[in-house]
Amino acid sequence: MLKTIERHIIEEERKLGPTSGTFSNLLHDIAVAAKVISREVRRAGINDIIGATGDTNVQGEQVQKLDVFSNELLINMLSHSGRVCAIGSEENAEPIIVDERWAGKYVVNMDPLDGSGNIGVNASIGTIFSILPKKSDGRVAQSFDCLQAGVNQLAAGYVMYGSSTVLVYSTGFGVHGFTLDPTVGEFVLSHNLVRFPDRCKYYSVNEGNAAYWDEVTRRYIEFVKGIGDKPKRPFGHRYIGAMVADFHRNLIDGGVFLYPKDLKDPNKPNGKLRLLVEANPMAFLAEQAGGWASHGTGRIMEIVPTDLHQRTPVIVGNRAEVARYEEIAKGLQ
Ligand code: AHG
Ligand code: MN
Ligand code: MN
Repeated sequence: MLKTIERHIIEEERKLGPTSGTFSNLLHDIAVAAKVISREVRRAGINDIIGATGDTNVQGEQVQKLDVFSNELLINMLSHSGRVCAIGSEENAEPIIVDERWAGKYVVNMDPLDGSGNIGVNASIGTIFSILPKKSDGRVAQSFDCLQAGVNQLAAGYVMYGSSTVLVYSTGFGVHGFTLDPTVGEFVLSHNLVRFPDRCKYYSVNEGNAAYWDEVTRRYIEFVKGIGDKPKRPFGHRYIGAMVADFHRNLIDGGVFLYPKDLKDPNKPNGKLRLLVEANPMAFLAEQAGGWASHGTGRIMEIVPTDLHQRTPVIVGNRAEVARYEEIAKGLQ
């Protein structure tokens, strides 16, 4: 039986008890935005060719960069829905506080276009979202509404624009994936209750940073490569440079993704990934899928944020592998 995302979202919300339906509607808004972004992604190459000589395409429309387009679309849709009071976006320095007339009870933190470096080479990209409750009193939100620990998340998910478009989300009752059927324009259930397989097949890390890694990461990566081991037990290595795509593959096939702290840039001692828009939502999904997410020595979702754009080391995926990394870290303390 074909199950659309709309029906699934409503069923999941019922598990929370009697509700107003606002939460379902918010998730549905995000699914609609994902369809629009997916459409733009699919014609990005065409837009590039047509728009190469100027800023307008053949229809006289403005050609926008995909990351700007995705950000503006999501902000526009969410801030006029009556369901959201604040939006923290990777693309905006400050949180967007929704006008009193439209303010709702949820907070959304998001990475509107993840893996933007992949756009020009036709590789996978994504959108990541995290939904939190409003914390402040009064109708209008405060900036600190966006600064909540991951454990407060009510839902999280991502959309992956790959060989097909897939939306994966969780409201705390497991992780479910939906594939966009372009012939009917609907997300249909394709991955019910996804869990990391027991076997960890892959490790995903930017090997180009190896010279800057600390001892913990160095030792862990030697372990996964089976260096010094008899018999050898190497994991496969896969790294596409978009966390959404690397995470998705590891979720389906079994794997661990790392963006650890490194000494590459003294201004980024905690690696590259953002706690609120990348690490926390993926950590929520990982835990819901039987995996784990660590900043190296502890649970990512327990970090109390102080800045919208703060970064954190990320080790996420099969639970046993994340635990192994933490064990090595403990042993070296
Ligand atoms: P974004 O495009 O939103 O800035 O995110 C890119 C992130 C993440 O998705 C990916 O895993 C990582 O950057 C790749 O970074 P490196 O190129 O340093 O490996
Ligand atoms: Mn990103
Ligand atoms: Mn981004």
